[in-house]
Amino acid sequence: MSNSTFKPLFESFQLPSGVELKNRLVMAPMTNFASHTDGSVSDEEVAYYIRRSGGVGMVITACAYVNAGGKGFSGEFGSDKDEMLPSLRRLASAIKDEGALAVLQIFHGGRQCPPELLPDGQPVSASAVPTEQRGVTVVPRALEDAEIRGIIRDFGESTRRAIEAGFDGVEIHGANGYLIQQFFSPYSNRRDDSWGGSLDKRLAFPLAIVEEVKRAVKEHARGSFIGGYRFSPEEAETPGITMAETFRLIDELADQGLDYLHVSLQEFWSMARRGAEERPRIDLIRERVGGRVPLIGVGSLFKAEDALKARESGIPLIALGRPLLIEPDWVQKAAEGRVSDIETELDPTAQERLVLPDALWRAMIYSRGWFPVKS
Ligand SMILES: Cc1cc2nc3c(=O)[nH]c(=O)nc-3n(C[C@H](O)[C@H](O)[C@H](O)COP(=O)(O)O)c2cc1C
Repeated sequence: MSNSTFKPLFESFQLPSGVELKNRLVMAPMTNFASHTDGSVSDEEVAYYIRRSGGVGMVITACAYVNAGGKGFSGEFGSDKDEMLPSLRRLASAIKDEGALAVLQIFHGGRQCPPELLPDGQPVSASAVPTEQRGVTVVPRALEDAEIRGIIRDFGESTRRAIEAGFDGVEIHGANGYLIQQFFSPYSNRRDDSWGGSLDKRLAFPLAIVEEVKRAVKEHARGSFIGGYRFSPEEAETPGITMAETFRLIDELADQGLDYLHVSLQEFWSMARRGAEERPRIDLIRERVGGRVPLIGVGSLFKAEDALKARESGIPLIALGRPLLIEPDWVQKAAEGRVSDIETELDPTAQERLVLPDALWRAMIYSRGWFPVKS
């Protein structure tokens, strides 16, 4: 296949803040479980990023906790204190030296945090409602107003550290059921103060974080700095976030002057479940956004042809997660038109060749059905 076929994936793209991506391909944020227990990045983690930063226009890092009470994974790295600056600098330079923009994903896990990872063993959330997911049975503690304001400031402080460490931007992790989504969701937010009780009030926490991140950028960044927001369009629980509520979130976010909205989906073409016509969510979201802010789409785009089709549906930026773990040279091969050489199934003997940290490798191999594995 000729390499000009894939040209739409390789045009440059300018974000609203003025930062330019050299192509339309982005490494999706992926936790790799490989950081040191003190929250600093490890050698094997840095090697993993270097291996994958040579082709894409932008790398979004694994999520990094903004305070110790929001650590969601063992081997997650921190952006929670100034002592982490050398670690953050090391990660930003490793990615940028390979030619990609480096974006730090900033995060609080809320009720999804394993108690054993937290200083006081007590996960927190909007309300004392346990998750229905992942067999977690711990009941979170509802945050007090002053603590909520403190966490909002922590997102601002992480943004300042990202700037000082040389990152090109931050992505607010408002997706996948973590704290920001817990505030937006009618399932996990049962508050009756200014942070919950109506759709408007459930929007207060996500929007306050956007505001605080923008404030930190204005105060600390010398040049352009990327601010993105990731969200999940629907929840399975009842009550839970519906497409109709997501449209409202989009309307609020689209007018915030952000650089992009990133839709977290496992399948790019998955269908809407509730609160909208039964059409692919990504099409409904693209129409709702109406070009007000660039969109990043993602989800099971293992082949170059899959990513091309996604791009040609009108989505400006395409993120690749598992495809880049399975095939670190995905982008280079697509650029050269060598698309049949792109590996789309994990070679279960290739940990070393693929430069994958031990704990991530174990998760990939032992979580059945998560990755397509070569038989
Ligand atoms: C190993 C792994 C770790 C992930 N960690 C994160 C994360 O830290 N933050 C996040 O927003 N999404 C995370 N995700 C979700 C991905 O960003 C992506 O949305 C999902 O895997 C679907 O895209 P894909 O089919 O290209 O992998 C993770 C996915 C994988 C496979």
